[in-house]
Amino acid sequence: MCGIVGYVGSKQAWPILISGLKRLEYRGYDSAGVAVLGPDGLKVRKCKGRVSDLQAHVNGDPMTGTAGIGHTRWATHGEPNDVNAHPHVSGDLALIHNGIIENYAPLKEELISRGYTFSSETDTEVLVHLIADIQRTEGTDLAESVRMALQNVVGAYAIVVVDRKNPGLLVAARKSSPLVIGIGDDGDLFLASDATPIVEHTRNVVYMEDGEIAILDREHGLRVRNTRNQEKRPSIQALEIQLEALEKGGYAHFMLKEIYEQPRSIRDSMRGRLNLAQGNIVLGGIKDYEQRMVNAKRILIVGCGTSWHAGMVGEYLFEEFARIPVEVEYASEFRYRNPVINEDDIVIAISQSGETADTLAAIELAKGRGATIIGICNVVGSSIARQTHAGSYTHAGPEIGVASTKAFTAQVTLLTLMALMVGQRKGTIDGARFQQLLQELDAIPAKVEKVLKTEAQVKYIADIYRDARNALYLGRGYSFPVALEGALKLKEISYIHAEGYPAAEMKHGPIALIDEEMPVFVIATHGASYEKVVSNIQEVKARKGKVIAIVTEGDTTVKGIADHVIEVPATSDALVPLLAVVPLQLLSYHVAVMRGCNVDQPRNLAKSVTVE
Ligand code: G6P
Repeated sequence: MCGIVGYVGSKQAWPILISGLKRLEYRGYDSAGVAVLGPDGLKVRKCKGRVSDLQAHVNGDPMTGTAGIGHTRWATHGEPNDVNAHPHVSGDLALIHNGIIENYAPLKEELISRGYTFSSETDTEVLVHLIADIQRTEGTDLAESVRMALQNVVGAYAIVVVDRKNPGLLVAARKSSPLVIGIGDDGDLFLASDATPIVEHTRNVVYMEDGEIAILDREHGLRVRNTRNQEKRPSIQALEIQLEALEKGGYAHFMLKEIYEQPRSIRDSMRGRLNLAQGNIVLGGIKDYEQRMVNAKRILIVGCGTSWHAGMVGEYLFEEFARIPVEVEYASEFRYRNPVINEDDIVIAISQSGETADTLAAIELAKGRGATIIGICNVVGSSIARQTHAGSYTHAGPEIGVASTKAFTAQVTLLTLMALMVGQRKGTIDGARFQQLLQELDAIPAKVEKVLKTEAQVKYIADIYRDARNALYLGRGYSFPVALEGALKLKEISYIHAEGYPAAEMKHGPIALIDEEMPVFVIATHGASYEKVVSNIQEVKARKGKVIAIVTEGDTTVKGIADHVIEVPATSDALVPLLAVVPLQLLSYHVAVMRGCNVDQPRNLAKSVTVE
């Protein structure tokens, strides 16, 4: 969702804000704007389009000043245009916002009756008028006016406000939307939706908590007030992200770079956890909860998007190795369904960003009913990571491309480690098989390297099907979630309609769509349902569909019937998702590039979905 950046200090704010917005653009990119406080007072510039459009928009008009705020938007209320772009202004105040103000309609009515006029269709504009109104009628300072205004607000927000009358000050507040503050060596203060714009300036950060208000003051430094409006000592943490991880490193797109990072990111997810020499798995982050997992009568897995697909692989893994029944839930459905949750349930929450609003809400619900919550997150210090009882980070490194790739394989790696570990402790997996799977898991990064070598062939196939209007993805068992993920990748970045289906279920519906135009991607690796999948391929071919199959190296049967095959190295069924998803990621990437789509910032999507 929207990206927020802020700066107050001794340097010029504009370049800091612009480079920060570029780093945050993956969160939203339909319009952008800045407000700078300087010798010309409060200067606001905003426009539809990307951050580069904003730069062009202010070209030649110096934005001089040493304090300011910037915003890149993912529209909720009101279409992306110049007027709806943030910052929004009321008198001397300018404000940026990420989130949704649910009661904006009655607030707006009230403000209109008090003489305020609205220029945008956004929910955000009510906030800035509300704060201005309180400042005017109560005579309170900016921070107190913000606090009082937010008492009337229902919804989720991260906001930052500046005041022309007080040019050395930013006031920020958060509820269910992230904000990180950076503290520079020379007293400069930075603020952003996540740490990516901050890391090039300082490694010292403070993660704001829900309900807190932060005052970033050039004169007096950082002050934070907690929910009871008491000053608290900010807890400063050290950032671990490397700056190079935020650059494309010679690749044409972040997505391609991230696909190629998978051998390393899978290895990093296993490092220090998979011990071949001792023949065991140690997950330090969940050690204290291991016994609860072993005793669990049920596991619920919650997530959204790609993380939900990883959760589905988790279901197969935990049921096979730990013999624990698993339900995988879309976080958004789970939270509003009054689900049955027991105190001895384990809830595994999966999220790359650690900020997804629905997943956070599902966690709160399950926590409130006494369940134990285990997180699998990629972003260190994220809201979900902090809300769970325990968890394991995926260590995939920053994922910038909106379509998730390396986070998926890292999540599946973590779930594999967890399921095997619990299975071993419970005795539900045979010792020799456990050891064999450890060996195989350890070999996965090298096998992914090998799969990446199929890129030229995948590109050739992408060229043949680049103009398809629909595509079907089929798999069985562990490969069914891979089919879902393959279809999601294609639709997200190339805008081709694609569906993932369990291969056998095809005959109950999607088979009606098959004709000579329809590419059907089938994961047909050797394993438990190989023969059945071969029959499903025959069914597609009998209807003249085009079959692109992912097969195990050396396969001859499928090669004889499919139109194209892509080989992946042999591995156990349970580990196939880690290999089979890679050519599907590459295929979506190349189709999208060939269609001229914006791979890293596909239309309408956002990387971190902080609204429900
Ligand atoms: C958005 C992203 C997806 C992601 C999903 C869940 O839709 O575009 O790539 O899978 O959110 O995000 P999370 O950060 O919770 O994994």
